[in-house]
Amino acid sequence: MLLFHTLMLSPSSITMPHWFGDNMVLQTNAEYGARAFLVGKAAPSEKVLVKFGEQSIPVIADATTGMFEVQVRPGGNTNLTITVSGESGPPVVAKHVSGGDVFFCSGQSNMVFPLKLAFNATAEASTLIDFPQFRFFMTQRDYAATPQFDLRPPGAKGAACDSNPSGVNSCNAWYTANEATASGLINDFSAVCFMTVRDIAKLHNLGKRPVGLVQSAWGGTRVEAWMSTDAISAAAKRASGIMPPIRTAQNNVSVLYNAMVAPFNKMAVRAALWYQGEANADQKLTNASKAKGGSLTQYYSAYLQEMIASWRDLKGMGDFAFMTMQLPPSCVSGTSSAKQMTTGRMEVRIAEQESAAHSGGRTDISGAAVTIDLGGKSAWGADHPPNKNEMSRRLALQTVHAAYAAQGRIGSGTAEESLWTGPILSSITKGTTADAVGEVLLSFTNWSAAGLTLHDVHAKNIDGTDNSCKLCCAGAAPFEVQVGKNWVMVSMANTLVDAATSTVTLKGASGDVTAVRYAWRDYVECTLINNDSLPLSPFVENIVASAALVTTTAAASAPAVRIIGAGKQMTPPMGFNSWNFYHCNIDEITVRGVIDAIASNGMKEAGYEFVNIDDCWQVERFANNTIQPDPVRFPSGMKALADYAHSKGLKFGVYTARGSRTCQNRPGAYAHEAIDAATYCEWGLDYLKNDNCGGTNWPSENTSWINFQKGFDECYAKTGRYIVKSIEYCRDPTQCGQWIGGVANTWRTVGDVQSTWSSVMGNIHANNKMASVVNNGQAVANGQGNFNDADMLEIGNVGLSFIEQQTMMALWSLAASPLLAGTDIIHASKETISILANAEVTAINQDLGFNGKIQGVLVNSTVAGVEVWAKQLHGGKGVAVVLLNLGDTAAPVTAEWADLGIPAGAKVTVRDLWKKSDAPDATGSLTAMTPAHGTKMFKLTTAAGIHDNGF
Ligand code: GAL
Repeated sequence: MLLFHTLMLSPSSITMPHWFGDNMVLQTNAEYGARAFLVGKAAPSEKVLVKFGEQSIPVIADATTGMFEVQVRPGGNTNLTITVSGESGPPVVAKHVSGGDVFFCSGQSNMVFPLKLAFNATAEASTLIDFPQFRFFMTQRDYAATPQFDLRPPGAKGAACDSNPSGVNSCNAWYTANEATASGLINDFSAVCFMTVRDIAKLHNLGKRPVGLVQSAWGGTRVEAWMSTDAISAAAKRASGIMPPIRTAQNNVSVLYNAMVAPFNKMAVRAALWYQGEANADQKLTNASKAKGGSLTQYYSAYLQEMIASWRDLKGMGDFAFMTMQLPPSCVSGTSSAKQMTTGRMEVRIAEQESAAHSGGRTDISGAAVTIDLGGKSAWGADHPPNKNEMSRRLALQTVHAAYAAQGRIGSGTAEESLWTGPILSSITKGTTADAVGEVLLSFTNWSAAGLTLHDVHAKNIDGTDNSCKLCCAGAAPFEVQVGKNWVMVSMANTLVDAATSTVTLKGASGDVTAVRYAWRDYVECTLINNDSLPLSPFVENIVASAALVTTTAAASAPAVRIIGAGKQMTPPMGFNSWNFYHCNIDEITVRGVIDAIASNGMKEAGYEFVNIDDCWQVERFANNTIQPDPVRFPSGMKALADYAHSKGLKFGVYTARGSRTCQNRPGAYAHEAIDAATYCEWGLDYLKNDNCGGTNWPSENTSWINFQKGFDECYAKTGRYIVKSIEYCRDPTQCGQWIGGVANTWRTVGDVQSTWSSVMGNIHANNKMASVVNNGQAVANGQGNFNDADMLEIGNVGLSFIEQQTMMALWSLAASPLLAGTDIIHASKETISILANAEVTAINQDLGFNGKIQGVLVNSTVAGVEVWAKQLHGGKGVAVVLLNLGDTAAPVTAEWADLGIPAGAKVTVRDLWKKSDAPDATGSLTAMTPAHGTKMFKLTTAAGIHDNGF
């Protein structure tokens, strides 16, 4: 009977992509993880309910496409059940879902290269026993002409799986570690993907954190196949207009992106691992392309970097780390140098290095592992060196640094400690004295170059035994200099490595040297390494007049700092805060992007000025106790960002916490307030958010606030720059209401806002209960603006409909809460900007209020399901009104003049602030049909003047 009943059920109206399934790992938002999403398809406008553990998230499918998307917070859960139900048919369910770290492994055959062909394959596969929390997802090979919402089912015609143990297609589903071992999938899984992620878990001590490994790779494929059409156009522009050659099937442009990347677009990840480039190295540029100034390096660099940018944009989670395996040799030792010079590998390696942090002045969250010394033949030939083990370890070191911001030496306890990088070149200078003609000095950053030495790639076999081959460094010294048109190898005798000064001097050139290159052949016999045996990346550098390689940042060339107004922030601060959208996934490139966007997208004109970085910009304290910004994500430092904001007429803020640790476990301000206030003053800071979090705290909660107030008063006296103080929290007028405004401008009245209707409503109603603290005239006595803070805006983020976002904006504006945009401002839609930058609405937020009452309040809630909110305006001639409909269907909402303080018979002109147009005059009251969860917002003006409505 039960069976019969089940068969009778109509199919579910919901489709979830294949990656939504049992044992799935969702990227957690701890540390740098940013946000995770679930996407699905339903009928157009269908009501969908996502049950995520205890949480229920309602969402309405798009009216045209039926697509829906919710943001989820998996945290550290390990056994969640997720149920997605539509209006008909059974729900789609995923069980045993965990929050953890997800890695997306892509590229060509060396990424496909199975674990069973790597060194010590059996022993390596057996290490999985120590990582029972790993989950494997192998993606079926497939290509498509247009971007796909989902992968095709296992076994679909024309698609193929790289793992079919005992005839079972293992693709497009999650396997637990046990299942991967029992079925044999682990032997077929990408050696580099598995060993890199395993080494990350080991080196960074991820403990039992769940980890998802997604393999989406295809042998012999070219970078252009993995790129969206938009990314291709952008790349072609950067590459002197050179378009990819025409290919077919899986090598056609965009086809792998469409079938094997786009279905994962909304899957949040910790990092992507990329091992590709061999197929592009073979590319011979046409003479026409060369005539346009094109080179293979420029081509691959432009295409790879645009691919990275577009993968990041499309995920919408903020930046994730992008880690590249730089190409190892394809030739074998002893191959004639003529052949070695034409493989294209050297050019591709340089391009790959350009995508890495600390290279060419870039500061991106990315890295490239150098593998020039790891050539060799496997069962798949010399194009597929078998020592994936060491390659993976190096990529893991890079990833721990870039994706987890670990500094210095990586690994602890039983895990091996190593620097994450080989030597980093910092400058090249030419000898200037007559004696030193033909002499070149290469300098390396000290910390990267301890133990600098030349290394014979053949000195040891891979198993550690000595190898008698001594090719290096006699015939194959790694440096060459350019004199005139010729490249000349610098002999060993003329290559002087000095570990003490972290330099290499190249001598003996017969004339003026114009460029230097290193490791410029496919198979490199001799490398320059540091104490950790990690090699320097290949390079070609012209010697320019000013020798420093460190590219000057935009800040360095920006106009001088402009000191912005001496005001004491008498109106609610308006600007941006990184937390809601980026979480910890924030860096200086993004912050500069936000500054540029606000300065040019209409927000600045509408009053937005602060660009504030929330938690995670800080990593440690220096020996002198000053705070250390994350050197990977903010290598130019915070002053440079403040200067940049100021150069655009904007202001700059950061976050700290009053305890010894911030909420993301970064160093807090406890007992360092004076030194931090001085540092912030020196940077030119305009805004400090002082959170309430963990670690050691002062016995009384306001010590931190008092200390900062003191430090900032000194700064103000010295520089005339006022620093806004935003604190967490004051939630009870009787507890802190009497004095809070003396030590802060704005304080959180309620917990963290989420991008959901219930959270937005909860926050604004709780905030309303605090209105008396702001409206009792204290601000004047305190000599600085005072505002209740209902938390940052979620406008532009997944989770709220357009109408709900308008409602948030209307109520936050009316309530004089700080307006801090918390979305991806760089890529904000027209709709998002239309809400945020409606200057008629923001003017209500900034209005000082009638009789000093800056915070508008709820004035009438007598009719069930609807509310009237009002703010009497400065000057006594106007009132701003928000009519709010809490219900699920449209309803009329009426504001009575009595609640607004407008005289009964007064003639009132009406301005519709969302429509930005005048509405008919009104008398006695104003009624408007208001959409479900929506608002109507009006400014009412009367020449008769208003009286205090007593709220
Ligand atoms: C929370 C705070 C959030 C955000 C976060 C960063 O306590 O309320 O707004 O700053 O910490 O860790």
